[in-house]
Amino acid sequence: MTAMSNLYIKHATIVTPIGTEAAKGDAMSRLNVIEDGAILIKDGVIRYVGNSNPLRQIYSLFGHGATFREIDVHGRVVLPGFVDSHTHMVFGGFRPDEFRWRLDGESYMSIMQRGGGIQSTVNATRATSTAELVRNAEWLMDRMISMGVTTVEVKSGYGLDFNSEARMLAAIGQLAAKRRIEVVPTFLGAHAVPEEYKGRTSEYVDLIIEKMLPKFRKAAKFCDIFTEKNVFEIEDSRRLMQAARSMGYKLKFHADEIVQLGGAELAAELGAVSADHLLHVSDAGIAAMAEKNVVATLLPLTAFALREPYAPARRMIEAGCAVALATDLNPGSCFSGSIPLMIALACIYMGMTIEEVITALTLNGAAACGLADRKGSIQPGKDGDLVVLNFDNINMLPYYVGMNCVKTTVAGGKVIFDS
Ligand code: NIG
Ligand code: FE
Repeated sequence: MTAMSNLYIKHATIVTPIGTEAAKGDAMSRLNVIEDGAILIKDGVIRYVGNSNPLRQIYSLFGHGATFREIDVHGRVVLPGFVDSHTHMVFGGFRPDEFRWRLDGESYMSIMQRGGGIQSTVNATRATSTAELVRNAEWLMDRMISMGVTTVEVKSGYGLDFNSEARMLAAIGQLAAKRRIEVVPTFLGAHAVPEEYKGRTSEYVDLIIEKMLPKFRKAAKFCDIFTEKNVFEIEDSRRLMQAARSMGYKLKFHADEIVQLGGAELAAELGAVSADHLLHVSDAGIAAMAEKNVVATLLPLTAFALREPYAPARRMIEAGCAVALATDLNPGSCFSGSIPLMIALACIYMGMTIEEVITALTLNGAAACGLADRKGSIQPGKDGDLVVLNFDNINMLPYYVGMNCVKTTVAGGKVIFDS
């Protein structure tokens, strides 16, 4: 580690959830606040969180022998680095014409069923070199970093054949290897049934189980699936995800996005880490997620872009679920990685409090990535990932609607964005 991953931040208004697992229900609104706080990061890891003074004593106890970059943030809010726990940010091509068809009234599923949608990005991705996939994703990643993201989950799922899925996972691996921020790789071979398997869904599921899952175990931490009517229904989903689990993958589901199918219940039954979307989740699904500690990952930018009703965040929190928020950045249903707009939507339309939103975007996002032991809060022992806001008040976050409140982003004790 270089000296650059040693950092001392002083005169901060530190606002953070506390814990090494997801915060559920009421606990989501419990944040720790330290006025005139200090954070000392050594070799990329947080060693001290407390008062700013006396400085000499802090250094001699926690930082001896090392040199530190010192930043006085003059009372600004410092939050844990944001965790975007659901993205499809590696892809070829854009789909602006589809967006326009949707504005004209056509539905997401009808575009998909006539060969557009995910399949059109599959065609473009297959025709894009791995190097270019990485370059495009890095361009998106730069913007995410400027909005405070220090951990991002990235899914495959635009290859849908062995070689193309392998290339997508290689591209995600290359993004991770650059180590700018933490990248969590997810295999989403079951994102859609590719054209060449049209009408033969269970044969495609066999191909994933027999050929892809065993080979991609090293490249992917999670296995995900689009459990949806006319895509992968409950029985195919259960079969595929049981196989993935038996090979050691952790599980995520795209669940109850377009219709209520029981995806949340299935995620709970199989011990998934998260179930995502949940616009049409049932009360039984909510209860099952709360009971089995499945993180309910909500993606309000997608509901907004599809002009669909928002997921029932309040009902989930009141039922004791751990709720996370993520962007779903992808070229189809939601071409946006806007953390600020997502925060505004969660507060204004989903009724989440600002405290709940902060927990959802930090500790609970980290839990949705299986990383809550070292990400998602500002406490000794966790990675030195921080966001410094331009303001001294967290209420600015939704109030400055859709605008970026981030002044500085720190990952592993290094300043990776400053404005
Ligand atoms: O999470 N619903 C399925 N998958 C993505 C959309 C992918 C796409 O349209 O390209 C989602 O919304
Ligand atoms: Fe998604």
